[in-house]
Amino acid sequence: MMRRAAVVLALLLCLQWTWAQTDGENKNAEVLFESRSAEATPDQSRTNVTPDIWAKLKELRHKMEKLEQENAALKAKMSSSVNEVEEMKRVTADPTKVAFTASLAIDVGPGTDATLRFLRVLTNIGQAYNPDTGIFTAPVSGAYYFRFTLWNRRTESHVGASLHHNHKSMMNNSDFNDYIAYVSLSNGIVLHLEEGDEVSMTIDSQYSISDTGDNRTTFSGFLLFPL
Ligand SMILES: *[C@@H]1O[C@H](CO)[C@@H](O)[C@H](O)[C@H]1NC(C)=O
Ligand SMILES: *[C@@H]1O[C@H](CO)[C@@H](O)[C@H](O)[C@H]1NC(C)=O
Repeated sequence: MMRRAAVVLALLLCLQWTWAQTDGENKNAEVLFESRSAEATPDQSRTNVTPDIWAKLKELRHKMEKLEQENAALKAKMSSSVNEVEEMKRVTADPTKVAFTASLAIDVGPGTDATLRFLRVLTNIGQAYNPDTGIFTAPVSGAYYFRFTLWNRRTESHVGASLHHNHKSMMNNSDFNDYIAYVSLSNGIVLHLEEGDEVSMTIDSQYSISDTGDNRTTFSGFLLFPL
């Protein structure tokens, strides 16, 4: 009987060691330790304790298997997020990867004199366009291409906006919607920007611009090549 208890004790110690190797929660290791010391108390009846230990062993083994599975799942999850972080690092480390398109998403004007914030971002590689301000900031010096389409559903009204390089207006385009219909206008420009230069669009108070969920009024830009 003593021998058998010793074997069980050795087995449990072995189990605990394996457990420590799997980096399991200390909580579980404590449970194991408690059951081992309970077994060692002399006033316990051995005949009752032994089958109890086998049941516990079985339970522990089951728990260990579960823990190992969880560990493997966690490791797989971690390695996939590491890959995602690496991919993000790769993209953000290269400032020449810059391209965006955003749609206005709302109707603006008449009576608004402000920078247009194209709120619905469709693409924003490199995050050079800020939808909170409507401003694109060049991450590197280079030749950039920008384009816009302005749509208007207000009849008997003017649609228009200006494209600005820093504080200089480069294009100030408008049209008059005199039919019971829609009107839209568009234009594009290649700009030589220095790093940190800003490009944005503004609306003057006499103009109005519309948009729907169809992304009819858009502003896009991308780097052609660094200079
Ligand atoms: C654009 O043109 C309109 C009409 O001539 C004018 O009122 C407005 O001030 C101009 N805006 C810019 C930014 O040049
Ligand atoms: C407008 O753009 C959004 C992207 O933000 C897209 O989910 C949506 O499908 C577009 N709407 C239409 C009608 O194409």
